[in-house]
Amino acid sequence: MRNFLMFCLVIFPFAVLMSSCDREPSVAGIVPKPVDLKVHAGHFQLDSTVRIVLQNTTDSKSGMVVTYLNAKISELLGSPLRIAEKKVRGPRIIINIDSTLNLHPEGYEMKVARKRITITAKTAQGAFYSFQTLLQLMPPSASSPEIRKGVVPVPCITVKDYPRFSYRGMHLDVCRHFFPVEFILKQLDIMAMYKLNTFHWHLTEDQGWRIEIKKYPLLTQIGSKRTEGEGFEYGGYYTQEDIRRVVQYAEERFIRVIPEIEMPGHALAALAAYPQLSCTGGPFKVRNFWGVEENVFCAGREETFGFISDVLTEVAALFPSEYIHIGGDECPKNRWKNCPRCQARIRQEGLKDEAELQSYFIKRVEKILLSLGKKMIGWDEILEGGLAPSATVMSWRGEEGGIDAAMQGHNVIMTPGNWVYLDHYQGSPKVEPVAIGGFTTLEESYNYDPLPEKLPADRHHYVLGCQGNIWTEYMYTPEKVEYMAYPRIIALAEVNWSPKESRNYADFLARMNNQYPRLDVRGINYHIPLPEGPPDFVAFIDSVTLSFSSTRPVKMVYTTDGSDPSETSREYSEPLTLRENTILKIRSVLPTGKMSKVRTITIEKQTPASALQVTSRAGLLMKSADGNFIRVGDLENAKNWKQQIIQDLSLRFNREKPSAAVITGYIDVPETGVYYFSSDNDQVWVANRLLINNDGEVKRFSRHDSSIALEKGKHALKIVFLNNTIGGWPSAWNGLTLQWKKEGEQEYKPVGKECLSY
Ligand code: ACM
Ligand code: ZN
Repeated sequence: MRNFLMFCLVIFPFAVLMSSCDREPSVAGIVPKPVDLKVHAGHFQLDSTVRIVLQNTTDSKSGMVVTYLNAKISELLGSPLRIAEKKVRGPRIIINIDSTLNLHPEGYEMKVARKRITITAKTAQGAFYSFQTLLQLMPPSASSPEIRKGVVPVPCITVKDYPRFSYRGMHLDVCRHFFPVEFILKQLDIMAMYKLNTFHWHLTEDQGWRIEIKKYPLLTQIGSKRTEGEGFEYGGYYTQEDIRRVVQYAEERFIRVIPEIEMPGHALAALAAYPQLSCTGGPFKVRNFWGVEENVFCAGREETFGFISDVLTEVAALFPSEYIHIGGDECPKNRWKNCPRCQARIRQEGLKDEAELQSYFIKRVEKILLSLGKKMIGWDEILEGGLAPSATVMSWRGEEGGIDAAMQGHNVIMTPGNWVYLDHYQGSPKVEPVAIGGFTTLEESYNYDPLPEKLPADRHHYVLGCQGNIWTEYMYTPEKVEYMAYPRIIALAEVNWSPKESRNYADFLARMNNQYPRLDVRGINYHIPLPEGPPDFVAFIDSVTLSFSSTRPVKMVYTTDGSDPSETSREYSEPLTLRENTILKIRSVLPTGKMSKVRTITIEKQTPASALQVTSRAGLLMKSADGNFIRVGDLENAKNWKQQIIQDLSLRFNREKPSAAVITGYIDVPETGVYYFSSDNDQVWVANRLLINNDGEVKRFSRHDSSIALEKGKHALKIVFLNNTIGGWPSAWNGLTLQWKKEGEQEYKPVGKECLSY
């Protein structure tokens, strides 16, 4: 008992940070983990009598950072602290910013003692990062129960801290989907909390041009809008005033903003506005589906370089960053191969091929940038055909490009897909909202190391750091961006900041429990792992046993009475065996009490559906009609149905010619039992039951798997397939998918043509 009392008295503030008193607190819950942190007994009482004393302010931004700190303290205490010019008695926060100190330019030292907090930094930026650490020692908001009578307890610690890498980035694609300025500012706030210092703003694409360029108004008048596959107009762009606002807000948080203007590929929105910059002359429409576009800037026309020079001149004036990103990725060469101007350029310049033409293009742009006083960053394709002399390479197709560039003496930013592509799934596609594909768990992001093992130590200094990339094809709303970004981007913040040897995933997870409430206060919709395993509909004959797992250790709670599970509902600890019709509701709960969304699983006892006594022939019957049908109900308006026999489900559809197909026949079940089906088609009916319904959704990675008990033999099968584009995904890219597995089998497999007939 005495030990317990001691624990609560001495360590209590930390225990609070860990949200309960009953577990060992991990290093004060600071993220990213500081280089050196020591915990002492006692705490500093922050209240309205505390003064801020600013000493040795050699940095012009000192006043700015003190204002920032005071605004944050004011959020907790209800009013700002008084700033004292000279030495004062009483509790105080002493901030010493001194350029002559032998400290890392982004580093700081901080001592929280019972009567004063002392912060020492070489720059205002270093002091700013000390504030982020200090704020994480305080409760997350004024409404936190620990803040009583206007006193904020700050545990006593000493910290010495500095970053491992100088480039600590987050990227955001605002082209596939557009996000308002307020949303960007919100993200910059969170970036600052985790000591990220670079925002890579992906501003131009095939699917939209999102930055106002005064000299070329059509870029936004035409290039910022597209007509979606569903028929509605989608658009948005940032005015130069918006851009200045974001840049200024970022600067106040020591975040540089690097704009990306894509070339020579990913430029269809620009070409829709100015088709004379293409090889064929157009006309073009802003692309309304994802993937890589064939039409690119013409490298043979002089006008192209005049245009790029004009655009970059306006961009350079808007962004103080020394870097401008020029894209350079995924530029198909077909148009250049067939373009007389591009071919003439290849001959005149003595180039070997189109890869060297790309290199010629990038090197010309590098000269434009240098003349504007800027340095170039490009995706790793800029290595092809020879690297521009001063370019920094962003390695995304793995680490090889980065290694190659570092070996050639170029700076590198690591963004390899497997670890840092935050558009990847972070849990099973069967339960997570639709994503582009891939699979990158929080643990994988956390365990990334920006220095590849293969890279010799004398080349390490070329690796500036790493960056989380947020491509937004499937991020239709700001909430979805946050769901994909957090907490993985926070793991990457720690990768970039903390010493490699001190990183530990379990410890990070524990410290994150001090962070989630802070994200909650800021309204961040972060990912909570979902219970994975069975689909939302489970049929059984006698009984069924359901197992659940999740991508990281998390408590799962469930009910079987139809109510939504709460924190105190029954905890899932072992597989559940069910023998009756049941509605199972299950969700995850973080140690902070925050819960995931609820999964509702209908468990139904079935008598196997009787097989049909029919004679049938190989193949299936397909009725099809032309037209852009978005919902299954739209088929009422279909005219001129055509009928044909298809042999199997391998038929491919043409994205350019929207249509619908209704396929009927029989599926031959090899033995009686429960069968699970998975499909990206709009609907799948088995034994006259609507088993899978993807109607109106983005038809990828079916989240509507389902099951049914079937007798051995033939059962009616109906598939409805709409060849349309929903959410940027043309279903023609799937074709007719139908997979199944018998209960107990792990993997789905395609329904083979030997099981299909009509
Ligand atoms: C990229 O992901 N295309 C750079
Ligand atoms: Zn051309």
